[in-house]
Amino acid sequence: MRDDIKEVLISEEDIAKRVKELGSQITEDYRGIDDDLILVGILKGAVVFLADLIKEIEIPVMIDFMSVSSYGKGRTESSGVVRILKDLDEDIHDKHVLLVEDIIDSGLTLSYLSDIMIRRGAKSVKVATLLNKPARREKEVSIDYCGFEVPNEFIVGYGIDYSEMYRNLTFIAALDEKAYS
Ligand code: IMP
Ligand code: MG
Repeated sequence: MRDDIKEVLISEEDIAKRVKELGSQITEDYRGIDDDLILVGILKGAVVFLADLIKEIEIPVMIDFMSVSSYGKGRTESSGVVRILKDLDEDIHDKHVLLVEDIIDSGLTLSYLSDIMIRRGAKSVKVATLLNKPARREKEVSIDYCGFEVPNEFIVGYGIDYSEMYRNLTFIAALDEKAYS
């Protein structure tokens, strides 16, 4: 698995430090909203980030998950078509929704999901993303909490996959082109 890694971009220690900071910021920003905060993790890439992030939040928080697909297996670019594969279990009407993403690339997935949450009557919709890859943005999305900015590389690790692999790496890395070309 390590042979396919071009470069480690963010170490396990740096991720942990930044996730802690984001958790504190979220705690401060949402303090006093009385049980109405729900973190919506976008499967599957955001699972590792969300699991670590909730442990750093010190106010009551619910979690739920949604699964959408815009990539086919083995593809490295967004198709622009977003399909809901698994919807939320919870009713988010009158809740403060914090969408939790692994990486924002074109921005299509996130802008589509924000619109859905607003249409369903969320009290507020904010976005937390572990990584931001602004180089290929097609749709502007406002990011409220961002872990790190990454270069225009294919990223894997800490939940993020290439063709369902590499999610279990503890660090974030750029994948070597030879692994996906
Ligand atoms: P967007 O709709 O183009 O912003 O794509 C968002 C989704 O594409 C993310 O949630 C990831 O699942 C996936 N994605 C985007 N860039 C990468 C990458 O570099 N590595 C792995 N997955 C990526
Ligand atoms: Mg994703």
